[in-house]
Amino acid sequence: MFPSYQLPTINALQQPTTNAWVEQAISNLDTILLDHAHCERKAAGVALNFMFRYPSNVKMIKELTKIAKEELEHFEQVNEWLERRNIPMGPLNAPPYGAALKAQVRRQEPQRLLDSLLVTGLIEARSHERLGLLSIYCPDPELAAFYGSLMASEARHYGTYWVLADTYFDREVFMERLQELAMVESELLANLHPEPRIHS
Ligand SMILES: [Fe+2]
Ligand SMILES: [Fe+2]
Repeated sequence: MFPSYQLPTINALQQPTTNAWVEQAISNLDTILLDHAHCERKAAGVALNFMFRYPSNVKMIKELTKIAKEELEHFEQVNEWLERRNIPMGPLNAPPYGAALKAQVRRQEPQRLLDSLLVTGLIEARSHERLGLLSIYCPDPELAAFYGSLMASEARHYGTYWVLADTYFDREVFMERLQELAMVESELLANLHPEPRIHS
């Protein structure tokens, strides 16, 4: 499916998630599930936004149609977990992570497209890593298995965002900017946010 050359994988993340995050998350699973539902909804929205903003990038449209559908399926599945655990769907304030990463996106094209793809890929990579941690440490075995089932899709998602960045930009430019944004991404998570969130 992807080209056979070596692409940056989860190694793109500069710093691994801390134990403190895992402890905070597993002690607040209901809040994490509610936040997770919002993350899946936003991920679908992000994929759709790319399609609206760049309607003539055919390869991108094809790939992101698949991602948008999958994210909506995840949204539906997480919502089922909310119902099962009697967690009311409601608003939840987002941690500063997403807005702070978005602020890194340069305003001019084509840099705007490059940065948007890389930032979205980094968010997907972090989700993949953290859902993986939840699949190991979540005390509810069924919920842990659910997290495990989502991990593979999130890995495919960040793979797709890297492939798209690599399609539309020079490898060197893409790698250099990825490195810069990955540093910012890890710095944003260096201090644990007081409230439990997927990206706290
Ligand atoms: Fe997802
Ligand atoms: Fe995703």
